[in-house]
Amino acid sequence: MLTVFAAIIYDSTKDASFLKLNTNLKSYSISLRTEIEDELDDNSSLDLKKLSSIRSKGLIGERFQLFNKEGGVIIKDSILSKIPVPNLSKVLNESFEMDRQKIDHRKYHILWSKFETESDSVYILETAASVKDVFDELDRLFYLFLIIIPAGLIITGIAAYFISKAAFKPIAQMSNTAKKISGKNLDKRLELPIAKDEVRALGETLNEMIERIDEAFKSQKRFVANASHEIRTPLTVIQTELEILEKRLNDNESKESIKNALSEIEDLTKLTNSLLTIAKLDSSHTKLNLSVVRIDELLADCAQALNSAALKKNIQINLSIDDAVEIKADKEKLKSVFLNLIDNAIKYSFPHTSVTINIEQVANDKVKIRVENAGPGISPAEIPYIFNRFYRSNEIRAELNGSGLGLAIAKEIVELHRGEIKVESKAGERTSFNVILSTNL
Ligand SMILES: Nc1ncnc2c1ncn2[C@@H]1O[C@H](COP(=O)(O)OP(=O)(O)OP(=O)(O)O)[C@@H](O)[C@H]1O
Ligand SMILES: [Mg+2]
Repeated sequence: MLTVFAAIIYDSTKDASFLKLNTNLKSYSISLRTEIEDELDDNSSLDLKKLSSIRSKGLIGERFQLFNKEGGVIIKDSILSKIPVPNLSKVLNESFEMDRQKIDHRKYHILWSKFETESDSVYILETAASVKDVFDELDRLFYLFLIIIPAGLIITGIAAYFISKAAFKPIAQMSNTAKKISGKNLDKRLELPIAKDEVRALGETLNEMIERIDEAFKSQKRFVANASHEIRTPLTVIQTELEILEKRLNDNESKESIKNALSEIEDLTKLTNSLLTIAKLDSSHTKLNLSVVRIDELLADCAQALNSAALKKNIQINLSIDDAVEIKADKEKLKSVFLNLIDNAIKYSFPHTSVTINIEQVANDKVKIRVENAGPGISPAEIPYIFNRFYRSNEIRAELNGSGLGLAIAKEIVELHRGEIKVESKAGERTSFNVILSTNL
């Protein structure tokens, strides 16, 4: 558009300049003609000096020649004589004839005009003016456009970039925050632009939507927490009653049934406890009860607590920790992490193997606790899912009890401690879980 606009301006300037030049040339010709007529009418000889001194405003390099009607030169000009005499009959018929000619690398506009003296003699006056000025002016205009158009485009481009960036900034900010919002931080809200425009209205609508989702999530979590809490008490009562009943009964078959019922209740209690733990971790006010924890002792306690389960499968728990290692952590929560990991290590081990637990200092302020077992392992396809709530491997689901919440709880607790939990597994051989924790939280 700029180029078209420039071309239109260039073209109209060119037309106007030539029109002006031709008008000036005509008035020059008329002035000369009047003077020549006067001199010829006075029968005096033509005063060349006087004629040469006649100038016209707005012309440069103006010059003239005078011919009689047969084309014979009366006043000769050294430059104009280099071009042929015009078509006399045409000039004599039309009185004015205009042309553009190049003489000695210079362009001239030339005007031939016929006039008659009182003595009826016919003359032809040839006047010319250089068009250099017009072309110089047009060249200046051309070079100006050559600079202005690209510069204009660049400046417009840069300005458009910054303006659009500023205009889209609130949208970009909102989109960045929206990307960070997940089920874990639904209390976060989009930052709204100050201007009361459509973007702000959209942000407000999205914030209201997040508010509703947050409320729905909270009510669901409250339900899980309340339900698990309510189930725990009757479960304990049933368990106690069944244990009393088991002791009282003499009949082996009935004792076996009660044992089975008790085992189911044990699983149900474990599930209820896991659900309650998850619900507590989900509540936004989960705070860590920090203290200095001897992690070597804590691991020994966990191993001790699960030793009888290990013995049932002829599994030995090897605790290769020599030194006392202290870290700042929530002791109870951390205990449930390692109880879950060691429980898994025993549960998913081949019988007659061993579970190894060790601690390694990985940086000045970081320790890595590794729980390793020999077992069927976890296939690479399953690894991305094992920390998901309720995820259990299909082969294991049928054979072993469990809810699939242990690793999800462990991961959440480790992350609350700003630590990391990673798994390495070789299918059919071994699995190891590595927990990296800061010693100074
Ligand atoms: N040491 C391990 N070796 C092999 N597979 C494992 C191991 N630890 C975990 N897994 C796999 O990860 C899944 C999830 O483990 P997670 O502890 O969350 O649940 P679970 O043990 O099945 O149930 P629970 O809630 O009682 O712990 C398990 O079902 C199992 O398939
Ligand atoms: Mg488990």
